[in-house]
Amino acid sequence: MTPATARPGDVGLAMPVTDRVLARRLADRMQVVERTLAGHVQSRAPFVTDAASHLMEAGGKRFRPLLVLLAAEAGTHPDSDDVITAACVVELTHLASLYHDDVMDEAALRRGAESANARWDNHVAILTGDFLFSKSSELTAELGADAVRIQARTFTRLVEGQIQETVKPGADDDPLEHYLDVIAGKTGSLIATSARYGARFGGATTQVEEALTAYGDIVGTAFQLSDDILDVVSDSGESGKTPGTDLREGVPTLPVLMAQASLRPEDGRLLQLLDSDLSDDGLHAEALRLLRAHPAMDRARAYVVARAQEAKGLLTALPVGPVREALENFADLVATRTT
Ligand code: IPE
Ligand code: IPE
Ligand code: MG
Ligand code: MG
Repeated sequence: MTPATARPGDVGLAMPVTDRVLARRLADRMQVVERTLAGHVQSRAPFVTDAASHLMEAGGKRFRPLLVLLAAEAGTHPDSDDVITAACVVELTHLASLYHDDVMDEAALRRGAESANARWDNHVAILTGDFLFSKSSELTAELGADAVRIQARTFTRLVEGQIQETVKPGADDDPLEHYLDVIAGKTGSLIATSARYGARFGGATTQVEEALTAYGDIVGTAFQLSDDILDVVSDSGESGKTPGTDLREGVPTLPVLMAQASLRPEDGRLLQLLDSDLSDDGLHAEALRLLRAHPAMDRARAYVVARAQEAKGLLTALPVGPVREALENFADLVATRTT
């Protein structure tokens, strides 16, 4: 696996870690996670193994397992086997959600490879997602009943978020509130659990576990906000996904909501396009071009940076040192990431 952000000379982590000793330890532990994950996508049926390993082998940043390992560094025993198990649990859950998400979004490209629904069909993609989620649940059982409960609640919130995204906000609902609620569920929940599991199985105090969970919640939301900005600005070479998918699917994300709220007289055409069916390639390209040039893009970026600041403020529960610094940088990078 080559993380999308790998640079020559770094140790191949999804987010660069400045402290060299910590970076090396995390990179070594990520290799263990990687090997363990490869074992967890095996099935007695060769076709299921092929389908389940397809996206695992295609790449991915492994952001969630890295957060588990990093949060574990705030505890007394970051090297415990349970930390590795927890890291695998969150990546398998995430991977399962990607198989399902690509069916929902009718996406053709994922991690720079054909999505499972494009390569096979929706049935294979959905059932492979189910298989991976079952694998993740089986593994969570090794961590005890509390971990299973946390995992189940997390998945409930993730699925609620995914479903809520397909439902327009009610007439009395604020569209921005609705959107923030959706992304806190579909993405914030699993990233918060990644931080919680790391703290818990690394042996951190309850106070640190709570602080890191709250941090993960906000960082997770910021991660999705960045993803939504990247959906507008990046190309598929960088993201491994098809740009403009949210626009095509009519999912109103932060840049769109901010453009709609800005009430500029010159935005007539953009607003009209945002209200129409963008399955037509020409209209879709025009909407994407107008949105990319809109000041709402910078406003959306500033909003994400402010959320990252908020997340960093929660880290005062940790002692000053390389781990806290890495978590601070992590929040900053989530807000400014380009992949
Ligand atoms: C994609 O997650 C889905 C979102 C929640 C935005 P990632 O950006 O972590 O995807 P991979 O794992 O790197 O492919
Ligand atoms: C999906 O959000 C988040 C989950 C998979 C739970 P997106 O639809 O924005 O994710 P991408 O952009 O396809 O990765
Ligand atoms: Mg999607
Ligand atoms: Mg997206």
